[in-house]
Amino acid sequence: MRRFSTRALLHSKAKPPLLSARSPLPLFLSAPRSAPTSKPNRLRSSPLSQTSKRYCSYRRMCHARRDEVSGSTNVQGREVLPTNVKPLHYDLTLEPNFEKFTYNGTVTIDLNVNEDTDFISLNSNEIDIHSATVLSKGAVVESKPEISMNKDAQTATIKFSQALSAGSDAQLKLTFTGILNDNMAGFYRSSYKENGETKYIASTQMEPTDARRAFPCFDEPALKAKFTVTLIADKSMTCLSNMDVATETDVDGGKKAVKFNTSPVMSTYLIAFIVGHLNYVETNQFRVPVRVYATPDQDIEHGRFSLELAAKTLAFYEKAFDNDFPLPKMDMVAVPDFSAGAMENWGLITYRIVDVLLDEKTAGASRKERIAETVQHELAHQWFGNLVTMDFWDGLWLNEGFATWMSWYSCNVFYPEWKVWQTYVIDNLQGALSLDSLRSSHPIEVPVKRADEINQIFDAISYSKGSSVLRMISKYLGEDVFLQGVRDYIRKHAYGNTETGDLWNALAKASGKPVQSVMDIWTKNVGFPVISVTENPESSSISLKQNRFLRTGDVRPEEDKVLYPCMLGLRSKDSIDENTMLTEREGEFKVPDLDFFKLNADHSAIYRTSYSPERLRKLGQAARDGLLTVEDRAGMIADSGALAASGFQKTSGLLSLLQGLDTETEFVVWTEMLSRIATLRSAWLFEDDKTKDALKAFQRSLVANKAHELGWEFSENDDHILQQFKALMFGSAGMADDPTVIKAAQDMFARFAAGDLTAIHPNIRGSVFTIVLKHGGVKEYEVIYDRFRHASTSDEKTTALRCLGATEDPALIKRTLGLAMGDEVKNQDIYMPLGGLRNSVAGIEARWAWLQENWDGVYQRLPPSLGMLGTVVQLTTAAFGTEAQLNEVKAFFDSKDTKGYDRAVEQSLDAIRAKVNWVQRDNKDVESWLSKNQYLQSKL
Ligand code: BES
Ligand code: ZN
Repeated sequence: MRRFSTRALLHSKAKPPLLSARSPLPLFLSAPRSAPTSKPNRLRSSPLSQTSKRYCSYRRMCHARRDEVSGSTNVQGREVLPTNVKPLHYDLTLEPNFEKFTYNGTVTIDLNVNEDTDFISLNSNEIDIHSATVLSKGAVVESKPEISMNKDAQTATIKFSQALSAGSDAQLKLTFTGILNDNMAGFYRSSYKENGETKYIASTQMEPTDARRAFPCFDEPALKAKFTVTLIADKSMTCLSNMDVATETDVDGGKKAVKFNTSPVMSTYLIAFIVGHLNYVETNQFRVPVRVYATPDQDIEHGRFSLELAAKTLAFYEKAFDNDFPLPKMDMVAVPDFSAGAMENWGLITYRIVDVLLDEKTAGASRKERIAETVQHELAHQWFGNLVTMDFWDGLWLNEGFATWMSWYSCNVFYPEWKVWQTYVIDNLQGALSLDSLRSSHPIEVPVKRADEINQIFDAISYSKGSSVLRMISKYLGEDVFLQGVRDYIRKHAYGNTETGDLWNALAKASGKPVQSVMDIWTKNVGFPVISVTENPESSSISLKQNRFLRTGDVRPEEDKVLYPCMLGLRSKDSIDENTMLTEREGEFKVPDLDFFKLNADHSAIYRTSYSPERLRKLGQAARDGLLTVEDRAGMIADSGALAASGFQKTSGLLSLLQGLDTETEFVVWTEMLSRIATLRSAWLFEDDKTKDALKAFQRSLVANKAHELGWEFSENDDHILQQFKALMFGSAGMADDPTVIKAAQDMFARFAAGDLTAIHPNIRGSVFTIVLKHGGVKEYEVIYDRFRHASTSDEKTTALRCLGATEDPALIKRTLGLAMGDEVKNQDIYMPLGGLRNSVAGIEARWAWLQENWDGVYQRLPPSLGMLGTVVQLTTAAFGTEAQLNEVKAFFDSKDTKGYDRAVEQSLDAIRAKVNWVQRDNKDVESWLSKNQYLQSKL
């Protein structure tokens, strides 16, 4: 599982889908990590009744300050609904209108009245509420109550003259109209083309806070209720929701009413409904039916891989969690417009097309891996997230960190030959350390108050640092004990809500170890340490000292107060010490033999290690001597790269280490080596050509032999990793202007352009497009643009779209930017043409100029609530590397209201600052190393 697009963008709200290193981008194109980074039994009845269910802590505070004007209360700084009533059951009916792109709805909510009250506040956003009726014991209390809306708090307050009394049950019935919007949020429309005609389906995306955009509701994760959904639609259309169909009846106007069975108690953010013309494939390999649905423009057979994997994974998870999937079916739908990669709605998972449909003939190995990750991630949520849900959004990491860990765990079981835990070290772990090395990072458990803040924490901290913390504790306790704790946790909290401490308690019980005191430090504090090692030969020991690590290399004393519990993982020739921890600032530890040792074996713990240059040389030798695992080698290179970038080590030391590893044989290690060179080259992008060319020559000398040796022919016998290895080396050599690779790319492209679509293997399609565009012009551009428009699968189209930015011709750069704002590119894909422009000075500068000129249009098309604006901001700014650029970006956003994307701006600025400092500090050091090693003179 190579990663991040986020994840390239390493994970800013995925969206771009938390693209992972398994992103379809050829690796050399992925953003260097110095950029901020960018889931048929009858339904069982719930074991816990609504009223006995544990109530979340912030709601337990009954003396919350009520603010009837806003309809929300402010508790512990969170904007939440008043606690006077509690929803038990929603009876929801919706009828989409595909001509007017609106829908009519009625909802009847059964409520429990907690205190005498004459009002009800619930969430509602951009919904026109026509009528409200309040009933108590079946009798109308008020048929025309006063309805007031608060746009800012996204609430509706219904006020009536007769008070409801505490302990009674009540009903609130609302009729309303909503918009089938095109913002991929709430109940929205999504389009596809059939015989040249645009057709629509209606689909939903509720997480985090857009259920309130679909229907008025109590839109907080702890306010679980049962749902009975009815959809009214044309008889030819398929209607789906979380549950299976209870009844289908004819209604007026030649339509049908599809009523679904009542769900178990669930959070509003997991509700889903879909209406449209859909095909499906089905399997009965699991206890309940599993289906994959897609619109008619897609080849539904491409759903088979995900279908079969989902059936196997569901059976696996039932065993792993010792808990049966409680719903009567599992549907997975490919939605043509989708802001994230996938969404775990209970029993009705939605996906972006490329993350669920696989055409084995035209897709590369990394695409298959990304789909496997995504399917397994969303399925893990069916237990972790859906059955057991975080109390509030500051516990998001519990959902996302766990689903990430679990998808890796199950992927490793289903595809051991993919060796995904090796990839974890260069993917999630580096994604986490990268974002968390910025001053503008945040603790895993971060207070979030408002809807616009929640979207921003779907990032590398929640996903990757969250899963790294779980990986660390699972290794510390042992995977079996860890999973036993998880099983206990799920049993205890099924159908309920939890806080982080509940997980630690379950793990503590299962292991008998004091989990909470160790783990709290990791989830409640921002950052992580670098451990500096000094050797004491006379006592055969090492002295260790931990300090906060910042990429900008400018830690202030007040930022360096936290002492993290660091598992040493001391590797020596024949053992690993798994038990010793550094919990203080400094410590001295015995080492069996100073001849060979390495800290953080397999990089299971969350810190970087700074060795002396001499020790680093010895470790390089140890790597060549086979004393280090793949994880050790990759992690050591990553540490060295990050320490050079932040001033803890000299960049020349990194270059020497890399140069000494040219005999390396493993794909994962090479990926990290090349990623570190890409990071260095991107930081030096605005320096003089001589140095840049020398860096390119260094990369070329490092990769050319290996690329030629592996070749770029793919055979049936190439295993999954070898395929990606060949693709990596081919792409890297091409990006370093290796003439043999350029010529090969041009030859393949010529045959491809002449109509032989098999001339370029899917594993290197993006690399070939990029290489020929860089060295070509409008002719090549037209062929690739045509592939974007006419290729048969979404995967091929988007590969072409991502590559169009590789051109360095100003007129073609302009065309690519024009595409980003035009109608041809869906909003979900805007980041693709923009991302492609990151490799040249001309592309980066034109992209920034474009953003400034088109800011109002971009803002309108991607309002912050959509969660994609932050991604665009990072894409268009974080590639900069000079002080003047830093000031320019800062000045631009200083004059803007950055609400909803302020983290993105801050993280971009921090990333640029780090590069400015790095180049200033080590420019001379790099130049002299390049000169000494004869790269400065080398001809290009
Ligand atoms: N719950 C998220 C989807 C989501 C993300 C909703 C952001 C709202 C805002 C889902 O489980 C998820 O994490 N999807 C990932 C896939 C994954 C394999 C990491 C994605 O969208 O990329
Ligand atoms: Zn998730």
